[in-house]
Amino acid sequence: MQLLDGKLLSENIKAELAAEVALIRERNGKIPHLAAVLIGDNAASEVYVNSKIRSCEQIGFKSSLIRRPADTPENEVLDIVRRLNEDPDVDGFIVQLPLPKHIDEEKITLAIDHRKDVDGFHPINFGRMAQGMPAFLPATPYGIVEILRRYNIETSGKHCVVVGRSNIVGTPISILLSRKGYPGDCTVTLTHSRTRDLPAEVRRADIVVAAIGIPEFVKGDWIKEGAVVIDVGINRIPDASKKSGSRLVGDVDFDSVAPKCSHITPVPGGVGLMTVTALLMNTLKACKKQVYE
Ligand code: GUN
Repeated sequence: MQLLDGKLLSENIKAELAAEVALIRERNGKIPHLAAVLIGDNAASEVYVNSKIRSCEQIGFKSSLIRRPADTPENEVLDIVRRLNEDPDVDGFIVQLPLPKHIDEEKITLAIDHRKDVDGFHPINFGRMAQGMPAFLPATPYGIVEILRRYNIETSGKHCVVVGRSNIVGTPISILLSRKGYPGDCTVTLTHSRTRDLPAEVRRADIVVAAIGIPEFVKGDWIKEGAVVIDVGINRIPDASKKSGSRLVGDVDFDSVAPKCSHITPVPGGVGLMTVTALLMNTLKACKKQVYE
């Protein structure tokens, strides 16, 4: 069993991005600038946004954090989005989800200029991705395809079973892996809470993508010998043996699954770090106008 090391890959990709920034600086070009909007005080969102901002600093990108309290009216958030859309210095931006209940996430997502939508959440980017046109890929699926690519995992003709049908992971990764080319050309089964006999579906998989948001959901006896397992989950569970009283686990029961796999992503240290790195890759593309003129 080989670990698919998201930390190592992220470091390699960030070094590549930092080298690009150094070149841009030498030529007095435009430094990539990512802005993040954080509304409220969701603890997990705070960790993710801080990690995005810190990663920008590490590689020499410019970053801006726009923070507002949880009771910020929807109109004010829309105003922030409009300002960022119009700011020529900002190459790309994200509005961290989830938003407080009184704010309509769909409305906010639709208000973001798709040319700056480095999260790849806007339906224009989603539709373009689905048709194989240049698009900002959503960060987690983009991170997953980079893991497969950089570890030279064979995908053509493989049976991939995706567990979970969210708009930001399950649905887009099932599209990307079924598309022509590498990594892709898979036969994909997209499973979810209404799937009949989920373990039987997962047992047919050469590649499993677990993105259901339930701690240690996928068990070892669901896994075909030699399968590749991509664990997208980041769940905090109580653990009295830890000083913090808790630990992070994925959507895969690592101890029973790992011995059956040819490759598996650990949690932490797998897909999560690649998600942040994919956002940086999208921001560089936005700055270089590689997706849109
Ligand atoms: N919430 C959970 N994941 C994400 C993400 O990738 N982007 C944003 N904006 N919010 C999230």
